[in-house]
Amino acid sequence: MGAVLHIDCSARTANSVSRKLSRAVVDELLEAEPSVEVIRRDLGVSAPPPVNSIEAAAFLTPPPDRTEEQVKALAASDALTAELLSASTIVLGAPMYNFSVPASLKAWIDYVVRAGKTFRRVANGELEGLCGGKKVYVCTASSGKAKGTKLDHLRPYLEVIFDFIGITDIVYFDAEGLAWGAEERERSINSAMENIRQHFSGRVEKQHV
Ligand SMILES: Cc1cc2nc3c(=O)[nH]c(=O)nc-3n(C[C@H](O)[C@H](O)[C@H](O)COP(=O)(O)O)c2cc1C
Repeated sequence: MGAVLHIDCSARTANSVSRKLSRAVVDELLEAEPSVEVIRRDLGVSAPPPVNSIEAAAFLTPPPDRTEEQVKALAASDALTAELLSASTIVLGAPMYNFSVPASLKAWIDYVVRAGKTFRRVANGELEGLCGGKKVYVCTASSGKAKGTKLDHLRPYLEVIFDFIGITDIVYFDAEGLAWGAEERERSINSAMENIRQHFSGRVEKQHV
């Protein structure tokens, strides 16, 4: 297994369910292969700022034509993109915020969906993802239960983004209904944790060779 990129984006550093689930997935991967490199990216603690005017212009300028200022402005995006490209597995803790992803995760997405790096133009204006072969585990948490309804702009959105950069191997572990009372909250978290345990019991080596 190549490096694991462990991303969290919950603004909560304590009592975060998405963080608990993503940690459990990383622990399973480490148990299967203790020497695996884990790269940590905590967007809930430190996220890139929204794309600014210099960066936007730089993204839209072919690399040889970029000004020195534009090249400099892309340093943070370059680093995050290189980090993503270096990993073979991504573990993403992703709470639902206003039916979609937290702004910190959206900012990261805007930095790593990069022409010529994570996707490229091919013939007839078509686009091709360049991150094929990577696997993503998405650990979601939400107060309500939007999965499978038109309110869910979290999972379908992440699927579009990952597919766009060439990643189609996505496994979800969901803890929904966390505000539906203490009993339902506990049941939901326990069920997601159990799903993680079951998913990895005896299967991880086969998935990553
Ligand atoms: C800014 C914000 C927006 C939220 N929007 C939604 C929402 O649209 N739907 C929902 O079910 N829960 C929503 N929640 C609740 C969170 O999804 C829930 O508290 C979840 O447990 C957060 O993940 P965490 O435990 O990893 O911090 C929102 C929470 C915050 C802070």
